Amino acid sequence: MEKFIIKNNGPLLGRVRVNGAKNAVLPIMAATLLTNEICYLENVPDLRDVKAMKEVITHFGGEFIDISKNEKSIKIKKIITSEAPYELVQKMRASFFVMGPLLAKTGVARVSLPGGCAIGARPVDLHLKGFAALGAEITQGQGYIEARADELIGSTVYLDFPSVGATENIMMAAVLAKGETIIENAAEEPEIIDLSNFLNKMGANVRGAGTDTIRIEGVKTLKGTRHEIIPDRIETGTYMVAAAITRGDVVIENIVPAHIKPVIAKLKETGADLEIGEDVIRVNASNIRASVDLTTLPYPGFPTDMQAQFMALMTVLNGTSVINETVFENRFMHIPELSRLGANIRIEGHSAIVRGVSQLEGSEVVATDLRAGAALVLAGLVAKGETHVNNIYHIDRGYSNLESNLRNLGADIKRVTVEEINQE
Ligand code: UD1
Repeated sequence: MEKFIIKNNGPLLGRVRVNGAKNAVLPIMAATLLTNEICYLENVPDLRDVKAMKEVITHFGGEFIDISKNEKSIKIKKIITSEAPYELVQKMRASFFVMGPLLAKTGVARVSLPGGCAIGARPVDLHLKGFAALGAEITQGQGYIEARADELIGSTVYLDFPSVGATENIMMAAVLAKGETIIENAAEEPEIIDLSNFLNKMGANVRGAGTDTIRIEGVKTLKGTRHEIIPDRIETGTYMVAAAITRGDVVIENIVPAHIKPVIAKLKETGADLEIGEDVIRVNASNIRASVDLTTLPYPGFPTDMQAQFMALMTVLNGTSVINETVFENRFMHIPELSRLGANIRIEGHSAIVRGVSQLEGSEVVATDLRAGAALVLAGLVAKGETHVNNIYHIDRGYSNLESNLRNLGADIKRVTVEEINQE
């Protein structure tokens, strides 16, 4: 087990480069199951979740080559099994993305119920609704879900909620279906567009990604291709908040400003100065003033994946902030931990009322999920004394080089191995 030890070291200053997007690369890796030809992926982030997805793809017969640190090739000559067991899927909910491509390619997919961050029930009913609409027979038992179809037939699927995962899984099933599939009330996240671009380069016919209606005309086969993963908008936002919370001045490179509009808008409301370039943003927070309210929503609303980090910022700004979480029903697990650092936060249903305090105090805290962990690191940057963030394997799921990037900006953060106590 490892933990971060963080000491307040003043404002962060300097430049940081953002990696490829976790939530884009994972479905794209799953989509390589749709072809027997070689696919080259560039700007692949070095993450625990990427390693987990690599294990999943290898399990199905995939061959991986690390061409360089961020470029990989994947070739799945033949899918050797249609079953994803618990040991693979429990590590990461995104493993469920293999269901659509497996079903499309082999006519059957048997996948253990997904794990991942414990941020609510996170059902998969909408994924299954889509597969069923395409003609798959869905059965469930002994912790497994099985989808089976001799042939998938295009159809119209209305998503009751614009689920990111369901939109992607249904897209990947529909690309090899017969005829046209229409996904209504589809998720509009940039990662959906990246997947659509990848699928179209493979020879698929997907239109409308990035809007609420996606049309997919099925094709017979897909080929290998080369693709560069988009920059991670949540990593971008996390460094923006790191600059803001320390009242620093940081230039964040290799980003897409259009993907982080709500984060930009909310930071501006706090009084931070933002300079936005084509693929770069500078956050100068020396004049940051007051807290802001926010509500998480599907894209292009404020991302739920930035809620915890923003809450960390609100704990030390003047005033009271109301943060409404509408995407996940149990995404406040960082609150007890932020409170251990001296934050003043009250939960009322799906809202958190945060009263800014003048100083957080370092303490021993636990990362309960990926973004909660990031929020605790950010709070640790400004807490008095030492903050110890435990269970940082959650953070490693989604941030590459977090501590070295923060150190380069002047932070005092180190990773240490926690001695197992009470060993028998
Ligand atoms: C993805 C992201 C995650 C992000 C989330 C919302 C990846 C790998 N993960 O997760 O980082 O926080 O989008 O932006 O891309 N739901 C259902 N039924 C379903 C599917 C979802 O009710 O079949 C509900 C969920 O319980 C949740 C909401 O829809 O309340 C949003 O979930 P969804 O958009 O599916 O998130 P994920 O794809 O799991």
